[in-house]
Amino acid sequence: MIILSIETSCDDTCVAILDIKKSQIKVLSDFVSSQTQIHAPFGGVVPNLAVRAHYKNLPILLEEVFKKTDPKKIDLIAATVGPGLEPCLWAGVRQARLLALGMGKPIVGVNHLEGHIAANFVGGNPKHARQRRVRLWRKIRNPKKVLSSQFPACHACGKALTGRQVPNLFPAICLIVSGGHTQLVWIKAIGQYKIIGQTRDDAAGEAFDKVAKLLDLGYPGGPQIALKAQNGHSDTFKLPRPMIDASNYDFSFSGLKTAVLYLLTPPAPPLSKGGRRGRGVYFQNEQSVNDLCASFQKAVIDVLIAKTIKAAKEYKAKTVMLSGGVAANKELRKQMSVAIRNKLPLTRFLVPDTRFCTDNAAMIGLAGYWKYKQRGGDKIEKIVAKANLNL
Ligand code: KG4
Ligand code: ZN
Repeated sequence: MIILSIETSCDDTCVAILDIKKSQIKVLSDFVSSQTQIHAPFGGVVPNLAVRAHYKNLPILLEEVFKKTDPKKIDLIAATVGPGLEPCLWAGVRQARLLALGMGKPIVGVNHLEGHIAANFVGGNPKHARQRRVRLWRKIRNPKKVLSSQFPACHACGKALTGRQVPNLFPAICLIVSGGHTQLVWIKAIGQYKIIGQTRDDAAGEAFDKVAKLLDLGYPGGPQIALKAQNGHSDTFKLPRPMIDASNYDFSFSGLKTAVLYLLTPPAPPLSKGGRRGRGVYFQNEQSVNDLCASFQKAVIDVLIAKTIKAAKEYKAKTVMLSGGVAANKELRKQMSVAIRNKLPLTRFLVPDTRFCTDNAAMIGLAGYWKYKQRGGDKIEKIVAKANLNL
């Protein structure tokens, strides 16, 4: 089955074509038109600029993918319907509707978060390219036999999974960490999700972006902080680990951001004249910035790992998955795999290739395929953008 997918939930215009045959997922085309340069001067996404760029870029990307794949061969159209910025979502939804009408093909609306979960099964790890060609997930209706694909490797033990191991992947726990979400999701089977914890304020990616803004490192902040952190010492600054010992699976990152702000605030006049407010480390030297980035990154990672491991233990997860833009963070990937190897040696750990961690349309194509196989296509008028769509 050939699937054309569109993702425009935020500031990336993405179009992909997947070819899913029985046991293999082939990514025929995967285009992401990043709007980073447009939004960077504003330090965050400006919705009306994002929409304008989506409308401008969609036809260009579609023309590009149709150079490689004959539009007549397309069997299904998938588009992200939410959650996201509603006007941005509408750009993709409208385009997908027009294509489905014009081509007379079925269409499915895809939840962006299910897309991030699906990213764990798109592509696999290039290191394991040979092993990836294993048979999988054949009958989607029966989660016990399910799915298909070039299959990913377990990042804890380093071994590629075989088709026979696939029925044993569930139940799983997926940590979705992006610019808009931080959620722990219990996955009973494909299509059966329950959110067991989420952030009460800022998402992890948002915290990275805001701290980067405080440090004047540019947008998006995650990759910049990760880069600086490579040359920093993570134990230099004592930062809080919010809610790490809470009895639930919720997160909170805004206090951590404030703690960083406090460190950056220049020292105030002596106590008698208003008290000492901050330490002003930012202005000391480049190494202080690197140390602060490393300390902040470590604080976020510690919380994410502690909660994920706790959830995986309690829910007796057979697999832990990691998704979303922040999952591209090398240190998080490394430390999560070490923690799983040490604390949950029998649990598998899946994480997408870095290019499928941040927003892309390939993951939407696979999630669309799952949905279509389970429930068939959606009525065209039912494909509507929903900014607050839940899993
Ligand atoms: O999934 P995504 O592309 O978009 C949303 O659905 O939000 O995630 C974008 C987020 C941004 O906040 C960005 O700063 C963060 O992912 N991010 C990172 C890294 N790469 C992207 N955060 C930490 N480390 C990274 N290497
Ligand atoms: Zn996303």
